[in-house]
Amino acid sequence: MKKIIIAIDGFSSCGKSTMAKDLAREIGYIYIDSGAMYRAVTLHCLEQGLFEGDALDTERLRADLPGLDISFRLNPETGRPQTCLNGRLVENDIRTMTVSSKVSPVAALDFVREAMVRLQQQMGRQKGIVMDGRDIGTTVFPQAELKIFVTASPEIRARRRFDELQAKGEPGSYEEILHNVEERDRIDMTRAVSPLRKAADAIELDNSHMTIPEQKQWLLEQFRRVAAQE
Ligand code: CDP
Repeated sequence: MKKIIIAIDGFSSCGKSTMAKDLAREIGYIYIDSGAMYRAVTLHCLEQGLFEGDALDTERLRADLPGLDISFRLNPETGRPQTCLNGRLVENDIRTMTVSSKVSPVAALDFVREAMVRLQQQMGRQKGIVMDGRDIGTTVFPQAELKIFVTASPEIRARRRFDELQAKGEPGSYEEILHNVEERDRIDMTRAVSPLRKAADAIELDNSHMTIPEQKQWLLEQFRRVAAQE
């Protein structure tokens, strides 16, 4: 069977990455979390003091960006990819509320997007890839054979993210998370470069009231249907 490209886009914390990871593992495809790449750039900005309050030194970031090495390494125990920044494992460091609160303005910068999109397109050259994000079906792989656009209410998404952070022992109140989710949606939808929107040929999935096994099954059916036509 010919390998295809699967693009999964949608709002923050809607469970895209869980769906994408599970599917990739099930069908033997590579999974790429494009949001992790924007988070890694944001972590660099925070660690190198490029932020002064909310103001970012974009010229320093522009100078640093070509020297940043963002890659993924498989965790031998879970079989899941983990994010590396300049060879250092940063999978946990990029998931904090501090990074979440700064990532959307960083991801709105045109030169950051250009560099990340180029990397993402290289990663998908051989196909056999599941990538999740905001602009995968519209900008990164407009030719993707299967495009999914995931939605759920902001309150349900904030609850899921709250539970996830709690399970990891990370701080963050429900109200703070809900505010962050809504704020990121707003920035992601209104930015000038590749705003978050559903591609015309994407299939919409509202998973507000779906369990993880249900959405997994639904996605697998979509994959089988499209892959059978290839
Ligand atoms: O996990 P969650 O859905 O909350 O976010 P994420 O996928 O880790 O992405 C973090 C942030 O990166 C998003 O809020 C967007 O601002 C940005 N992003 C983007 O602009 N384009 C992408 N393809 C992926 C993420």
